[in-house]
Amino acid sequence: MSNFSLLPEQASTVAPQVDLLLYFLLGVSFFFATLIAGMILVFMVRYRRRPGGDHDPNAHGPLWLEAAWTAIPFAITMIMFFWGASLYATIRRPPDDSLVVDVVGKQWMWKLQHMEGRREINELHIPIGRPVRLNMTSEDVIHSFYVPAFRVKQDAVPGRYSSLWFEATKAGEYHLFCAEYCGTLHSGMIGRIVAMEPAAFEAWLAGQQPGEANVPVAVAGENVFRAQGCGTCHRADGSGQGPSLAGAFGKAVKLANGDSLVVDEGYIRESILNPQAKIVQGYQPVMPTYQGLLSEEDVMRLIAYVKSLHAGEGGS
Ligand code: CUA
Repeated sequence: MSNFSLLPEQASTVAPQVDLLLYFLLGVSFFFATLIAGMILVFMVRYRRRPGGDHDPNAHGPLWLEAAWTAIPFAITMIMFFWGASLYATIRRPPDDSLVVDVVGKQWMWKLQHMEGRREINELHIPIGRPVRLNMTSEDVIHSFYVPAFRVKQDAVPGRYSSLWFEATKAGEYHLFCAEYCGTLHSGMIGRIVAMEPAAFEAWLAGQQPGEANVPVAVAGENVFRAQGCGTCHRADGSGQGPSLAGAFGKAVKLANGDSLVVDEGYIRESILNPQAKIVQGYQPVMPTYQGLLSEEDVMRLIAYVKSLHAGEGGS
């Protein structure tokens, strides 16, 4: 019990901030709970009914007291709100230079793949000192990716992408849990995060699973792109029936219905599986759906391929 602690180790950049906010909330709660309970006890004795008691039933407290017990709690709750909201925004917004790892949850395991090609099950190797962003979905039911030592948790939801980011600060091994009840073996859907020194991570990343070459995700995506004949319509020069995908990722596009959006992973996924949902302006809704024809991993590979296409290349 010598290393007993109430909270898990702090192993990410946000962990100390989350804990500080928690301690503040606990401290404020403890202070006011004690104050109020103490005052109840004191007043119980001091203002108890006495024989011949003659309290004035119309007594009024001083105005400054009423103003103070309104203003002080208001100020404290505003501090909680702005502090919590700003920390939440930090936790929700991944830095632009994050490493991306694709994550697919299924009953009952986590399947992960690094962009360089290395795949993992229920294990995630990451470098310390670099933000890592998980692009997550689920093949079946809702799961939740939870790393207590990093103080982050995010649902992996079937039919869409969610994202989670963190930056590990200490090399070591940390628990990974599924934190959303997902069926019989939910409690067994556990794994570990291995945070490594950058050099050790690079060496690990270049290593191979037995009997399997590391194919970068974008290259695997190009293979899917060719096998499915996507290039017939999505020509790089824009002369096809579908829009050119070169340089499309991250760009704003205008849609046929007049809306516009920025091409992100979620939009590409939707356009593959439900092509009629948001047609780019100037194109006909002629693309067939690939729902049921592609695995979640294949869709993620296609997205990695599209992201790798810069203006003026590929897509043919
Ligand atoms: Cu997956 Cu609980």
